This record gives sequence, structure tokens and C-alpha cells, in this order.
Amino acid sequence: MSSVTIQPQSYDYPAQNAAGITCTAQAWANVPPPLQATEKAAIVSRIKQLLKEKDAALVAHYYVDGDIQDLALETGGYVADSLEMARFGKNHSAKNLIVAGVRFMGETAKILSPEKRVFMPDLDATCSLDLGCDAKDFAKFRALHPDRVVVVYANTSAAVKAQADWMVTSSCALAIVHQLKLDGKKILWAPDRHLGRYIQEQTGADMLLWNGACIVHDEFRAVELELLKASHPHAMVLVHPESPQAVVDLADVVGSTSAMIKAVVDGTATEYIVATDKGILHRMRQLAPNKKLIEAPTAGNSATCKSCAHCPWMAMNGLQGILNCLETSSGEIFVAEPIRLKALTCIERMLDFTKNHPDLLAKAQHGFVKNIGAA
Ligand code: 13P
Ligand code: SF4
Repeated sequence: MSSVTIQPQSYDYPAQNAAGITCTAQAWANVPPPLQATEKAAIVSRIKQLLKEKDAALVAHYYVDGDIQDLALETGGYVADSLEMARFGKNHSAKNLIVAGVRFMGETAKILSPEKRVFMPDLDATCSLDLGCDAKDFAKFRALHPDRVVVVYANTSAAVKAQADWMVTSSCALAIVHQLKLDGKKILWAPDRHLGRYIQEQTGADMLLWNGACIVHDEFRAVELELLKASHPHAMVLVHPESPQAVVDLADVVGSTSAMIKAVVDGTATEYIVATDKGILHRMRQLAPNKKLIEAPTAGNSATCKSCAHCPWMAMNGLQGILNCLETSSGEIFVAEPIRLKALTCIERMLDFTKNHPDLLAKAQHGFVKNIGAA
């Protein structure tokens, strides 16, 4: 009989006690100020020159500033979801990688490519899922359930990955957990409770869930989304699975950032309601200029702003930070070798699975698409 059990609140992101950069207000205070056009052009041109001179590639997540995404693409780098960022960094021949995203993305790149130097525009750019899953607490949780296969989301520290059997991202979690269930395995899942619940519902696997959440996706509100849907009855609703169940239940497509972009590009609908970080709209607009994109609401009618779905730590990535990496070698990522070696196993297992089973991945992606025919 399948089950889903959630751990006590004590493992939540400690927002009440957050200090320094782990506090979102501090993160916002550290977001680089907008640049004047001439200053921006000068920095972009210098970065382009240094990327070549220093044999460096820029890889960016869909949530970072649009100028950084454009620069990555213009310079032969990459803009992607967390699965493809990891694969790109590993396969690229450059000696140096600049990772624009959050800390776990830089760590994953370093774990996969110890021979490369990996830099980040701001090493303090973190993630509430990573912060809410302390490696020592996680070890205690794991020790209580030695009979379970340990599956962790990419949004965790290297020290947590070092304790896992599998790492997954939202692109491949469904396919991998489905396979583990077919193999008769019981699963210990961390840290995102919403993604874990969704995967459990879709696969019927026996999963014990850590009680973490993404502070951005956790804010989407079903009641507001329903009102928005009512005023846009033909819009297709795209939801990232880090969102609460009531929001996921209203979706036409539930998927990773890349699956959401694909849904906009391939969909025949003219309007799309997008429930994920608003940074993604930049790439969606470029790839599907004729589609109308509407941000899913995080607040009610009396609020001054309808949606504040933007990750403060992703927002800390700036062009000046990238230039600093190239000019002064600032923001270098280091992972202690014993941790790196342990964490490598679960990441390589995921990369091998996704490479060797494109059929299972596509089938599971299809599971994410609840109602694509209505598009
Ligand atoms: P993706 O793997 O879908 O890119 O998601 C990463 C993330 O941090 C979402 O909040
Ligand atoms: Fe983490 Fe959420 Fe930010 Fe993604 S959007 S990096 S899950 S806090």
C-alpha cells in the first residue's frame, strides 16, 4: 500500500529566524542596482572579451536577469533548467564555468567537473529548499529509515547530496521515482514537500517526505488563480510542481521550467497563465512572441502588486558580478573532495538514467501534461 508521510514542521525553512543573506529582505537588499545603458554596454563588451580570453562559458538559469540570459546565448553558453545546466557544464570543453543561478547549481557543476574552475556572480545566492534541509538534521532523518532509497532534489547542498542514492530535478523526478517504484523500492524524499507529494500522487510510490518548500512557488494562491482563470477562460495554465497542491490541481500542464517553455512554444492556445518565477517570461517571450503571457497571482485584489513571484537569490545575479568572476576570480566554488566524491554518485546516476532512458523520460513528461489537448 502506498503512503505519503510528512515530517514535522521543525524541518521547515527557518524563515522566522533567518539572518544575513538567508533572510529574503537581506537578499533583496543585495540585488545589484540597474545599470545605465552605456555602463551596461561597456560591461557586456568586456565580459564577452574575457570569456574568450579566459576560455570560460556562461551558463544561466531561466530565472536570472534577461540580460544575463541573452549574454549566455550570444557567447555560446547556455540558458536552461537545472538538469540541462548540469549536463551542459559537464560536457563543455571550457576550462572555466560561470554559473548564473543559485548556489546548488554552482556546486553541482563543480562536483561534475572538478578539473574546471567554477565561479558564481554572488556566492550568497542560495535557495529556501537548500536552507531548509540542514545536512546534520537530514542525516538523523535518514538514519531513522535505513530501508528507504534516498532521493534528493537538486536544490540541496553538496553535503545533503553526499547522503543520497539519487539526485533528481523537476525534469526527471517523475520518471526516476516511477522506475524505483517498479523496482519495489520505498523512498525517502527531500526537501520539497509539494514536488514530493505530486510525484507520490502520480506514481503511487511509498514516499516519506521532508517538509521543505520554495518560498516563491509556495506563494501561489488557488483562490486567486481560479478568479484569473475565470476572466481568461481560454488560457492554458502552466504550473511548476514546487507549487501547492490546490494550485497544481488547476493546471493544464505541470512541469519543470523547460517543460513550461515547451508548452508555450508548442501550444495552440493564445494565452498562458504562468505559475513560476517571472524570470522565465523573458525566454518565453523570445521563443513565442505572439503568445500572451500572464503571471499567476500570489496576492489578492487589495494588494498593490498581483504577483511577486521572483526569487530574491536568483535576482542577486548581476552583470558586474560576472565581470568580477572574470577579472578578479571572485566567487569561486569549492567542494571538499570527500563530499564531492560521495555527491557525484547520485548526480551521475541521474545523468545516466536520463541519457539512457529518453523513452521513460518522455512518458513521464507526458504524465506532467494533464490537458495539453485543450490548448
Ligand atoms: P527547474 O529544474 O525546473 O529549472 O527548477 C529549478 C528551480 O529552482 C525551480 O524553482
Ligand atoms: Fe529555490 Fe525557489 Fe529560488 Fe528555485 S525559486 S532557487 S526553489 S527559492
